Amino acid sequence: MNSITGLMLAGAVLTGSVMLTGCGGSGSSDLYKDATQPVEKRVENLLSQMTLDEKIGQLNQRSMWGGDDALAIFSEEISKGNIGSLLNVPDAVYADSMQRVAIERSRLGIPVLISRDVIHGYKTIFPIPLGQAATFDTAVVEKGARIAAVEASSDGIRWTFAPMIDIARDPRWGRIAEGCGEDVYLTSRMSRAMVKGFQGDDLTSSTSMAACAKHFVGYGASESGRDYNSTFIPERLLRNVYLPPFEEACKAGCLTYMSSFNDNDGVPASGNKFVLTDILRGEWGFNGFVVSDWASVGEMVNHGFCADRKEAAMKGFNAGVDMEMESGTYIAHMKELLDEGKVSQADIDRSVANILRVKFMLGLFENPYITTPQDVKYSDEHLAAAKEAAVKSAILLKNDNETLPLSSGVKRILLTGPLADARHDQMGTWVFDGEKEKTVTLLDALRNEYGGDINIIYEPALGYSRDKNEAGIARAVNAVRGVDAVIAVVGEESILSGEAHCLADLNLVGAQGKLIEALSHTGKPLVTVVMAGRPLTIKKQVDESDAVLYSFHPGTMGGPALADLIFGKESPSGKTPVTFPLAVGQVPIYYSKNAGSRPANGTETLLNDIPQEGGQTSLGNTSYWLDAGFGPLFPFGYGLSYGQFDYSDIAIDKDTYSKGDCIKATATLTNSGKHKATEVAQLYIRDHAGSVTRPVKELKGFERVTLSPGESTTVTFNLPVSELAFYGSDMAKKVEPGDFTLWIGGNSDCKLSTPFKVAN
Ligand code: BGC
Repeated sequence: MNSITGLMLAGAVLTGSVMLTGCGGSGSSDLYKDATQPVEKRVENLLSQMTLDEKIGQLNQRSMWGGDDALAIFSEEISKGNIGSLLNVPDAVYADSMQRVAIERSRLGIPVLISRDVIHGYKTIFPIPLGQAATFDTAVVEKGARIAAVEASSDGIRWTFAPMIDIARDPRWGRIAEGCGEDVYLTSRMSRAMVKGFQGDDLTSSTSMAACAKHFVGYGASESGRDYNSTFIPERLLRNVYLPPFEEACKAGCLTYMSSFNDNDGVPASGNKFVLTDILRGEWGFNGFVVSDWASVGEMVNHGFCADRKEAAMKGFNAGVDMEMESGTYIAHMKELLDEGKVSQADIDRSVANILRVKFMLGLFENPYITTPQDVKYSDEHLAAAKEAAVKSAILLKNDNETLPLSSGVKRILLTGPLADARHDQMGTWVFDGEKEKTVTLLDALRNEYGGDINIIYEPALGYSRDKNEAGIARAVNAVRGVDAVIAVVGEESILSGEAHCLADLNLVGAQGKLIEALSHTGKPLVTVVMAGRPLTIKKQVDESDAVLYSFHPGTMGGPALADLIFGKESPSGKTPVTFPLAVGQVPIYYSKNAGSRPANGTETLLNDIPQEGGQTSLGNTSYWLDAGFGPLFPFGYGLSYGQFDYSDIAIDKDTYSKGDCIKATATLTNSGKHKATEVAQLYIRDHAGSVTRPVKELKGFERVTLSPGESTTVTFNLPVSELAFYGSDMAKKVEPGDFTLWIGGNSDCKLSTPFKVAN
């Protein structure tokens, strides 16, 4: 991107000046131009001056492309007031140019809202959201979103389609990469952090972007982990699991929501009035606007929910989709629908008001053009924050014999694997604007920062993750001669996760499994680093490796982050934001499940030990897989560090609480290891008997705690009893009295617990 000053596009001179007079607007009726007036008055005043066509135009969002034809087409449409928002605007020059057309050449001078998918960074790419969730660090995540907003807004983008807060319990679904994992509480905390980061402290600041909570709702429960598939989420599960992160976004002031692609129990999300209007506006009091996902209003015809696009426009609009992304059914049919009495003028006015309100709140009428400097991208501060996020998102899954950190005695290492130097893939999915030239890989970082002292031999063995050509494996095995350790970076290319990129098999692709196997036979200490968009079924590779670091796709600064972790400048502190299955057949597998009638107890007989011709009931009748037991490879919340953390002395301040109380729970946390390290202490509860069954464990708090070797501290959680509320048999949210258990520990499989009661 270049200087935007003085360029002339579409007949508009870009000078940086702000002109608020549209061609026709003027006089005392122009109260809406007066920034000192309350937003609602401005909305009302502007609305009263708009024609029906201009109103319908505000409901229309279009995707832009580059070139002279686009400039001509979009200038024409915007000047007529036919477009309320643009996405995919090629760059800052186009953004300012289109804005100038809206301000100077449309009748009322209503700014267009320029939007984009800025998901985990704009230019400086942060770890994928699933990796960010693994930090369990809301401050780091909020800062990442803030930096994304600062960089993106410098190119005129004032609305991002993030955060993606779909609870996802099926790693086959490629979009699990884009969210915060399986847990309601963790996702809700991250939801708030991201909304705050994107929107900033002052919405009118030219660095603020409106956030968009997506995909509303239930999309992550896509049947069989295949994208765009149906979901079947009953209302109670919807309210207890899928809705809370969205409600939290609303409480954090999120300005927009996006209706999702899925149909839930037969009703497509973009036609679901119960969710889009009754819950979002009626129950939560939301007063921003809802945008459809790309073409999802028109696609209600594909679902078989509408006979044609006109009916789709009617059902989408009446359900509560204010702005339609791309499919154009509103612009084509709204007038007709109004004439036929199938939509009402009052509803059109309400939707337009919702959109105008957001534009006023963002200060777009006062500051429509880019005013922030262009050179904020890739600033040292941004790169340092991206590195910190990548350090904190890496999860140490295994570390036998303290293989990591590599000691100062290590003088020669072999770096191998297709992701050791994969500039593009390291950035992960949903990266429209990151540049691979700016990515620092592990190879770069090792050479730059450690190459002086250590002899680094690089033999990738495979060209890319799906590469099946095994010829390079022998080269890698040959190269181990004389090395002190081997680092193998394997996983998935970024194209294997994200939208529409689902998998039925979660094993390492290509010949990567064979590479790890061959390396494990060399007898050298083997450190496996996995970069991926989802948890993979890597039990065999975990068994074969001495140490395993899971970094998801770590972004621009993934290389330096990993190098510092490997050599012990930093200790790993990430925790799994999603359960890692042993085998894909276990999916969906998540910790916060209901107990079921006959839970497994660990004494189950597995496939190879089953006697021949045993009696039907000889194995006992519990809930497990003969070939995979009942547990995962790694539970939710799991992750090691270079310290050794022990929990003891759990205590609560009362035995019995009343509903207005706050539970004070404490435990002693000790680092009995040799390294200073950070632990994510976690609080879980179980409600033992309810009007409906409750999960066996639910995360209700977490805290990052750093301790030096030998140091102990008391971790304290204050949990309001109101946080135990759920939607029970009468579909009302409340705390049900009875017996509970509370755990404090380092992952969802923790054992240190204490009982308590909630009184009537
Ligand atoms: C995705 C959304 C995205 C939109 C706009 C859709 O295909 O589902 O997440 O925001 O495209 O790019």
